[in-house]
Amino acid sequence: MLPEANYEESEAGNLPLPSPLEGEDGGRIGTATRWNRRRAAIRAEFARIMYGELPPRPEAVRFELRRECDDAIDGIAIRREIRIHLEQGRKHHCIDVLWYLPKSVKEPVPAIVGMNFRGNHACSPEPDVFPPEFFPLDEPVERGSQTGRWCFRQLVESGFSVATAFRGDLFPDRADGRADSVFRLYREADGLTPEHRELTAISAWAFGYVQMLELLETDPRIDRRRIWAHGHSRLGKTALWAAANEPRFAGVVSNDSGCCGAALSRRNFGETVGRITQMFPWWFQKELDRYAGCEAELPFDQHFLLALAAPRPVLVASATEDLWADPRGEFLSARAAGEVYRLFGCEGIGDAEFPAPEQPVFGDAVGYYLRTGIHDVTPVDWKFVTDFIRRNS
Ligand code: GCU
Repeated sequence: MLPEANYEESEAGNLPLPSPLEGEDGGRIGTATRWNRRRAAIRAEFARIMYGELPPRPEAVRFELRRECDDAIDGIAIRREIRIHLEQGRKHHCIDVLWYLPKSVKEPVPAIVGMNFRGNHACSPEPDVFPPEFFPLDEPVERGSQTGRWCFRQLVESGFSVATAFRGDLFPDRADGRADSVFRLYREADGLTPEHRELTAISAWAFGYVQMLELLETDPRIDRRRIWAHGHSRLGKTALWAAANEPRFAGVVSNDSGCCGAALSRRNFGETVGRITQMFPWWFQKELDRYAGCEAELPFDQHFLLALAAPRPVLVASATEDLWADPRGEFLSARAAGEVYRLFGCEGIGDAEFPAPEQPVFGDAVGYYLRTGIHDVTPVDWKFVTDFIRRNS
């Protein structure tokens, strides 16, 4: 039986944090060059213990334009629906991307890549967006039911392009989802059972982020140097892991990513490693189970994950009522990551204190804010996100 989740700050523990700059030989990393080697070792540790490795690049990748509408969102956007075909030998897997571009732009635009929870048709107010075809959710999803989270109009009006794909296209989010996941390309059915924890949902989804980035890079209307990864909650954990693995992401936004995302594991507050590994084993390596209840033995904490993005900018967002994700633990992690950013001459958020709601701490390459409200993505979030991206590109 799991103990009750703790929501008392006085009980959070706040165990001392390891430093990403402490080398394996005990020596201190003092230069960006030395950090690069240390960074590779930390990334490998996250892969081994927590997230597994992203699937390899398939032998062939093909983009099929299924539909283009040059009069989308009341005429302000171009909407493209693209099927990414992944081919490995005789095996084939698809990802369907919904992609909006602002229409009236003269120069290449920045872009945001994010994965969605309930299908592309749920994200858009437009009535004819293709729903997921291959591995739909167990329950029917209403068209447009997630439009509150995907503020396409607001983003396009702010000059951003935005692309999204359904998480289920990469890894249906359930214990036996591996069998229908993108890992099918590389394994036979007996290698895709729930025991094969090394093939994780988070790495499959992160691979989907990289595929979307590569799709956007083919379009001259997109500024390839300003393609950002964005994710909410489990997909926020994913966006951080995607940016850690793919240097072409210009920056990353974690929205309410919580435990095993931005939040520190060495705090007992809200969700813990013990709980997450019991509830969502298919997201993580089996190795992580060993750290349930002994998080202090992890060779890293989640500020190391944020620091894997350095010196690229990272924005961590929390919500006041989302205590499960431990807002303060997310803040402390963002602050602690600054140690690595300083090697690159960026101040991070310095020694800022936990801010009041709607008072963003937009530091030098690291940002944090707390939004009033529940675990969600709202127009207020997107406003902070686009402001932060503008300041940091
Ligand atoms: C659950 C899970 C979290 C996750 C969240 C989500 O609450 O415990 O770790 O972030 O789902 O993805 O919405």
